[in-house]
Amino acid sequence: MHQSPSYDIESIRKKIPLLSRFVPMNNCSQSPQMDITRAAAEEYLESWGRDGMDWERWMGEVETSRVSFSRLINASPDEVSICVSVSQATSSVASALDFSGSRRKVAVTEGEFPTVGHVWKAQERHGAELTWVPAQDGIIPLDGYDHILNEETQIVSACHGYYQSGFKQDLSEIVTKARAVGALVYVDAYQTLGTCALDVKELDLDFLTTGNLKFLMGIPGIAFLYVKPSVAERLEPTITGWGGRENPFAFDLKDLTWAPVARRFDTGTPPIFEAFVARAAMDFLYEVGLDAIQDWTETLSRALIEGGKARGLRLLGSDDPAQKAPTTAFLVPGDSHLIEEKLRAKGILASARGPAIRLAPHFYSTLEDVETALNVLEKILYSEDR
Ligand SMILES: Cc1ncc(COP(=O)(O)O)c(C=O)c1O
Repeated sequence: MHQSPSYDIESIRKKIPLLSRFVPMNNCSQSPQMDITRAAAEEYLESWGRDGMDWERWMGEVETSRVSFSRLINASPDEVSICVSVSQATSSVASALDFSGSRRKVAVTEGEFPTVGHVWKAQERHGAELTWVPAQDGIIPLDGYDHILNEETQIVSACHGYYQSGFKQDLSEIVTKARAVGALVYVDAYQTLGTCALDVKELDLDFLTTGNLKFLMGIPGIAFLYVKPSVAERLEPTITGWGGRENPFAFDLKDLTWAPVARRFDTGTPPIFEAFVARAAMDFLYEVGLDAIQDWTETLSRALIEGGKARGLRLLGSDDPAQKAPTTAFLVPGDSHLIEEKLRAKGILASARGPAIRLAPHFYSTLEDVETALNVLEKILYSEDR
């Protein structure tokens, strides 16, 4: 096991002020502020305060964030739509699909974040029929898809990383299974992007979405949606707005001409402030290197899994670091939120979900951070402190 990553982690840690007070292990929920993301937020506030408005520069920043996101997934900027949340991105995609024919089934994994399931469920009134790919102990076994997918399946909705256990699905296997029945593939990569290289072209995904505040080191209010060009060209989302027009600045009330490729999924005034922050954070991660981040976060996962086992903690999900996002979830007795609070009081930021405490380090975390977090968790769980 390496003791440090291939990049200069010490200089990176100096850019994260929160590290002087806490051990942040809550990236599965909200990442810490970096000095560069704060500076990007201040850049917008400065511009707004000083100039009143500067649409050209602000919209330019939105376009730059589109470019920054597209290179993280090996897409071109036109193949990326800027959204405000994963809920909105998923709703926009769902609104463009036709469930009135024989392909009315949506295969949804039981590992999805609830919002994605809710969006698909809301399509039942338009004829969609949901079929559930089962999750077992925080893992979604691949053969679960075989029993669910058939010629009536229009789309498979799968998360890359499971928010509750950190389990990471093998997307290429899912695409192969979906293609065998002629279905589209929709991927929610919120819990993995920023921690690994992901190539939408090589994987042949139809849709991929993520928000920005978890492992992409950003803030709420902006999300990105990749749409494969050949699929985008035949879709017309009914969740739309002037941003989805071929020429939004024509301000033509009666003309619905669709923008080419994924831009047709844009809706209203984009999240400008958030785009400033998102761009700065994504460019930083790209410079650090996604392969190097994956390598290091797998080392951190191994330390969490082995350290947890040594302390008798019960893991939820896979114990193979290659099958995980950086999130490691431990099942805890009683109220997990109370344990989250106790961890915070002792300097560890963790995230409770259901019966589990999630420890989610990232590229700036050290093996000492992992050790400290596990020691504190062990003390809280096993001592009179409980
Ligand atoms: C995997 C995943 N998808 C979606 C969401 C939420 O999406 P949004 O609030 O942007 O709609 C979360 C939030 O935790 C998540 O973990």
